[in-house]
Amino acid sequence: MDLESLESTPDFDRSGLLSHILDQFKISRHGAHGPAHWARVRLHGLKLGRSRGGDVLVVELFAFLHDSQRLNEYSDRLHGSRAAEFAVSLNGRFFDLQTEQLDKLCYAMEHHSGGVVHTCATIQSCWDGDRLDLGRVGIKPHKDYLSVEAAKMIASATRMSKGLSSG
Ligand SMILES: [Fe+2]
Ligand SMILES: [Fe+2]
Repeated sequence: MDLESLESTPDFDRSGLLSHILDQFKISRHGAHGPAHWARVRLHGLKLGRSRGGDVLVVELFAFLHDSQRLNEYSDRLHGSRAAEFAVSLNGRFFDLQTEQLDKLCYAMEHHSGGVVHTCATIQSCWDGDRLDLGRVGIKPHKDYLSVEAAKMIASATRMSKGLSSG
């Protein structure tokens, strides 16, 4: 997993959290919703979150947690809601979010499959990061579902999704 730029991200028990998530992860670690996806969501989300003044701790936790409760690779409509419940159960153990931060993280996870664009830079940076990685399942991200800043990253993110670039 690419964990570059750790020096500029908030401090929390990152390795403990990732171990805990992986221990309970019920689908393939090598599938479309596994750690390689989380890493790309994190990379895109942090870049956008920083440039737009979002809460990068919330964005990073979204990347690691948003697909952590999937039961299958396809039509698991409630995986975001379960991820929100999971995040609440972990707060104070691997990370310490204030109520407002936890609310944003939970909202972003509960609604991440909805296709809406949000005015909150933190929430939209989470969704942008996820949607910019649609190339891994053969879908080109569409600018109508991204922030203006994220729309500029479609080509590079799609190359990365397909394994054509490490950047
Ligand atoms: Fe998801
Ligand atoms: Fe995802």
